[in-house]
Amino acid sequence: MEQARRPAPENRYYAMGEERSAKVHLLFARIAPRYDCINDLMSWGMHRRWKRRLTALALPRPGEKALDLCCGTGDVARSLARSPEGSGRLEVMGVDFSEEMLEIARKNSPPGLPVSFRRADALSLPFPDASFEVVTCAYGLRNLADLDRGLREVWRVLRPGGRLACLEFGRPARRILSALYFAYLRLALPVFGMLFLGDSHSYGYIFASVSRFPGQRELAERMGAAGFESVDVHDLMGGAMAICVARKGRGTVPGSEA
Ligand SMILES: C[S@@+](CC[C@H](N)C(=O)[O-])C[C@H]1O[C@@H](n2cnc3c(N)ncnc32)[C@H](O)[C@@H]1O
Repeated sequence: MEQARRPAPENRYYAMGEERSAKVHLLFARIAPRYDCINDLMSWGMHRRWKRRLTALALPRPGEKALDLCCGTGDVARSLARSPEGSGRLEVMGVDFSEEMLEIARKNSPPGLPVSFRRADALSLPFPDASFEVVTCAYGLRNLADLDRGLREVWRVLRPGGRLACLEFGRPARRILSALYFAYLRLALPVFGMLFLGDSHSYGYIFASVSRFPGQRELAERMGAAGFESVDVHDLMGGAMAICVARKGRGTVPGSEA
């Protein structure tokens, strides 16, 4: 059974409602230059393996178009563009609303790789309906001001039969693992912020946001409510991380029928 939502801790970068996007924007502008390095340290390098799994579960195929949502510094977008399944002919677009993150994404992408980056808000994507066969999102959904709107937007830009694969912090089912996991998020991560950015709030944000974000089973239900079919949950590290893979069927969004 899903564990009860934790009491929501206060954080300088976490706000509810209209202020949410502006705070998230501010946060990623601040951490962009050190983002990749801190990611490697706080996940002990494992985020690379989880992202490779994400890319594989998205099932990219040659000739398809893929969108990496909330792409940050672009590692998932590059991994998609390089995936053997895509064999260099997969066209990848990475979007993020932080110009600071996109600057690094562009700098890290070698010329000739079929990947491009564009500034855009995930809640209002500048693409026509049914533009992509694949959408990936790593650690992005938790940051959106409106999760359900974000999921409906992904559904809109996917072609019928297209796949959505999302990697996010999860909720371990086992009590002991859950206690250790939340202790790590609450106590250890702010230390990375202190050491590398001089404040505990930037990485304290992760605990604040994970505490308010649905666990992987509820996220799968929300994907279903946004119109996706056959949502599968892949737990990693006992559920501390999770990849949800969903498919867009050929029907309409529930509730949108005339
Ligand atoms: C935790 S980072 C993840 C970056 C990258 N996907 C990764 O896994 O390393 C979250 C990213 O989401 C972006 N973001 C948050 N809300 C967004 C929105 N509404 N539209 C576009 N990007 C957004 C942030 O700017 C940030 O780069």
